Amino acid sequence: MTDALKLGFGPFTAPAKIGPTGVLVVFCDDRLKFGPATRKALGAAADLVVRAAKAERFTGKSGSALALIVPEGLKLDRLVVIGAGKLADLEAKDVLKLGGSAMGKLPASASEAVVFAELPNGAMTSDQAADLAQGVVLRAYAFDRYKTKRKDDEKPPANRSVTVAVGDVAAVRKAYARREAVADGVLMARDLVNEPANVLYPVEFARRTAALKKVGVAVEVLDLKAITKLGMGALLGVGQGSARESRVVVMRWNGGKKGDAPLAFIGKGVCFDTGGISIKPAAGMEDMKGDMAGAACVVGLMHALAARKARVNAVGLIGLVENMPDGNAQRPGDIVTSMSGQTIEIINTDAEGRLVLADVLWYAAKRFKPKFMVDLATLTGAIIIALGQEHAGLFSNDDKLAERLTLSGTATGERVWRMPLAREYDKMIDSKFADMKNTGGSRWGGAITAAQFIQRFVADKTPWAHLDIAGTGFDSRQSDINKSWGSGWGVRLLDRLVADYYEK
Ligand code: BES
Ligand code: MN
Ligand code: ZN
Repeated sequence: MTDALKLGFGPFTAPAKIGPTGVLVVFCDDRLKFGPATRKALGAAADLVVRAAKAERFTGKSGSALALIVPEGLKLDRLVVIGAGKLADLEAKDVLKLGGSAMGKLPASASEAVVFAELPNGAMTSDQAADLAQGVVLRAYAFDRYKTKRKDDEKPPANRSVTVAVGDVAAVRKAYARREAVADGVLMARDLVNEPANVLYPVEFARRTAALKKVGVAVEVLDLKAITKLGMGALLGVGQGSARESRVVVMRWNGGKKGDAPLAFIGKGVCFDTGGISIKPAAGMEDMKGDMAGAACVVGLMHALAARKARVNAVGLIGLVENMPDGNAQRPGDIVTSMSGQTIEIINTDAEGRLVLADVLWYAAKRFKPKFMVDLATLTGAIIIALGQEHAGLFSNDDKLAERLTLSGTATGERVWRMPLAREYDKMIDSKFADMKNTGGSRWGGAITAAQFIQRFVADKTPWAHLDIAGTGFDSRQSDINKSWGSGWGVRLLDRLVADYYEK
């Protein structure tokens, strides 16, 4: 996970206390102004900063940084000044990014750093400082367990310690506790997404969810026999070409009132998607080890909710399969019967995620009668064409739920964009031979016809939202808060949704 990062909190200190090989990270605004504790720490070196800023044309714009190596007058290896931009514009998600930038500015060799959680107008609030710390932890994550040959200068020290200097240590520690739970959930999700499919196949994925028991989540693994007995013919059809058995995992966290209807989170867990008989082209197929990012998010979210003891009842359900071409694989033209009783003509075996979700969603609504269901799935390439990687596609039968998700997205920076559902799109998946077919037959509106398909398996008019995370679940670009591939996208978003609207 994190390269053994030791995160701590402490008071603002003099640089001498950091140690001669340490790094000090401070923040300024877009007019190069510092807070009082920062000014005091810089002392006479403040002049040096001004000169360096001029030489580098550093103005403190949001996202910019200035590094001074062995700064004269300070007993430090390095002083890093990070621009926070205009203070009036600074939101929680921006403070999180500042923490990420701070971590990103530490050289691999730095073993000790202090980050001053201070802005020109004084110490950050406890919530801001805790957001900053969460950004540090998210950025520190690296998935490097399969790298055996890193050169010495690429190896971070075994014990990296980052101390966030704050105004009120006790208050920040308290504010950080819940963010730590959420950060751990994000890192857990990233680990799952980053794992290769030869290691993380359905049975192994299911086995790893047992870790949730430690934080009080009840974990139930449905094996082939149980899944067959439930009649999940759509899900089973996807997995039948694989040498690896399919699994469904049900996770329950009861932190709310006894008997209160739970919130349900459902994840697509295609551990590898070759496309099946409708096989994908070779280029980029390796990315399809991440086709379980929805399921990974649900696991991470369940961890977050339980670890921070969310006062809510929640269930997480994930459908775990591997989509392979094989003598026993399902064929285009095959007709399968879903758990709902509705029949599906398989047109394209690469439209497999919706088949998995169809059965798991149906089961979730029938068994738990949830207050709402949110599913997450790396479902369509079409959503990437529509929205790129900045928003996930949101489809919903419930305006209130959709609005809450949108607001939670804006607040956390995990943004969603609402897409339409309509009868005309629904008609596109009618089939000549069965109740429906698994693709719309045209690439036009591909993310929408996929959502229409899923909607046919939302039982009893349960409020439901579908998040197509094909563009956001993994990302080769580096961001301020993630330098790995798997993003853990959705954990912070849904934790926020729960915290802001469903915890009494
Ligand atoms: N897992 C893919 C979608 C995907 C593509 C996720 C790229 C992440 C990145 C999904 O199972 C799929 O293959 N969808 C097809 C559907 C089509 C056959 C109707 C697609 O989008 O091309
Ligand atoms: Mn597919
Ligand atoms: Zn897929």
